[in-house]
Parts: sequence; structure tokens; C-alpha cells
Amino acid sequence: MRDSRETFVNHAFVTGFPIKHSRSPLIHRYWLKSFGLPGSYRALEISPDAFADFMNTLRDGTSDFCGGNVTIPHKERAFALCDRPDALSRELGAANTVWVEDGLIHATNTDGYGFTSNLDERAAGWDRCDTAVILGAGGASRAVIQAVRDRGVKTIHVVNRTVARAQELADRFGPSVQAQAMEALPELMKDAGLFINTTSLGMDGTPVPTIDFTTMAENAVVTDIVYVPLKTPLLAQAQLQGLRIVDGLGMLLHQAAPGFEKWFGRKPVVDETLRQIIIDDMDRHA
Ligand code: ATR
Repeated sequence: MRDSRETFVNHAFVTGFPIKHSRSPLIHRYWLKSFGLPGSYRALEISPDAFADFMNTLRDGTSDFCGGNVTIPHKERAFALCDRPDALSRELGAANTVWVEDGLIHATNTDGYGFTSNLDERAAGWDRCDTAVILGAGGASRAVIQAVRDRGVKTIHVVNRTVARAQELADRFGPSVQAQAMEALPELMKDAGLFINTTSLGMDGTPVPTIDFTTMAENAVVTDIVYVPLKTPLLAQAQLQGLRIVDGLGMLLHQAAPGFEKWFGRKPVVDETLRQIIIDDMDRHA
């Protein structure tokens, strides 16, 4: 039995390269404060060259971290260098959450959980649709495809400028996932119940394609995994056409929760105060 006088002060991190724009410290420090826990959560900028050594310090206990988050460009290396990847991260070949147990680094990927939890919160029933259309086949789309498939959506069209990249994902994620060219988009939108943008289209001043969302199924949901700005050009377009939209901020907030629970032993809540903290930070850096 745990000695009640013993206090555990756990320390966690987020690492990326660069890392200064990460909002994960705001999220985890909010939860630490809410629970009155004495632990810490720090942002560490680690270059790709130094990442393997950092993982070794976690494993051999020379760092005082019990785990942390891993972001761009380390997600694939974190998966490759960990000792106990779970099934989700194995299929993705990438991990965003690690924790140490008995000298072994365990890893998972919570991006898909973050994505589905956001939709569950803001568009309950979204998973009753038969067909989803996902725009984009980059790194960020993988966990989304996996999560939507695992929730039982029968057909997932991955539409991408470079069809070969979409085909790689179709091969990886199985027969419910189909690779499609951009030209097929108008036809694919008809009766689809869910549209997800995973690209940065429109964010860098490039023209946004005009998409007819009105042909989608009744009660269809349009969402974006990009959350800066909160209302992306594609979300704005869908809203103007009368569609239900869900912004991507909740994905960021929810993906953080499983890690916090692993490192600090408490199940955190994604609430409006936390959401507002991040929105205020986005406004400060706009
Ligand atoms: P991430 O890891 O953030 O997903 P990425 O791997 O560079 O980033 O992928 C970006 C996605 O946005 C890709 O699907 C990309 O299409 P390609 O695979 O054809 O490159 C898509 N994308 C970016 N800019 C685009 C544009 N101007 N038109 C169409 N698709 C675009």
C-alpha cells in the first residue's frame, strides 16, 4: 500500500522543434492548478539530432520526467525509439504521448481520440453517418482517418491533390478508405455525412476552392483540424451554406487528456475556461 506520507511530484514535458508556439503547457498547467497538484509540465526544444539521447534519459531515469508529449518533427522517431508502442501508434507509425514504466517507454497516439472527443462533444451523433470525406493526406490526416474508421464509418474518401499519397493511406487503413482525386470532390460530397479538412488550404493566402456543402446529407457536420484561425476559410464557407460546423480547437484540448491522466493520475475535464485560455492566447499572438 502506498505510504500516505509519501508525496509524488511528477514532471512531464512537450518536445518539438521548434516548440515555442506549443499551447500544451497552458493546457496541462491549467489542469495541474485545477487539481492542486504539485507536478510540472515544461516545453523542451530538442533538435532531431538530440532526440534519441533524450529518449534514453527517459528510459534510464537520468531525467526526472515520467512522460510527455511529442510533436513535430519527433512523432515518428518517438514511435521508433520507444519500447512499448500500443496498437494505435503501431498502425500510424507515430506517437504523440509517452510514459515510462519500469524503465520502459510506452507510447500511444491520442490525436484520433482528440478528434472524435471534440465531435462527440460538439456534434453528438456525427458517427451515425455512412460516408465521410477527408481533404488531405498529410501526416495530420492519418490519426483522423484511423479514428473515423474505428468509429465504424463505412466509407471514407480521402481526397488529395497528390492522389498517390491518398492511396498510401488507403493501403494502410484498409478497404473502407478510398483514395480520390480533387476533381471527384463535388460528386463525393453528395450525401456525405461528415467533411473534414486536414490541409492548410486558404491559410497562407492561397485561394480556397469553392465547395458545395449543400449536397451533403441532412445533419451533416463539417470540421477542420486546423484551429488557427478558429473559423478557417473552409468552415466559414460551410457555415454560410447553412452547415453545422465544429472548429478544431477541441481536438487539441481533448488529445491532451489521456497523457495528463497517465502522468498525473487524475482524469482532467475539458471545460469552457480552458477553451477560453487558449483562445485568449491565440488572440494575443494573432
Ligand atoms: P501535415 O503533416 O500538417 O498534414 P503535410 O504532410 O505537408 O502536412 O500535408 C499537407 C496536406 O495539405 C497534404 O494533403 C497536401 O496535399 P499534397 O499531398 O498534394 O501535397 C495538402 N495541401 C497543402 N497545400 C495545398 C494546396 N495548395 N492545394 C491542395 N492541397 C494542399
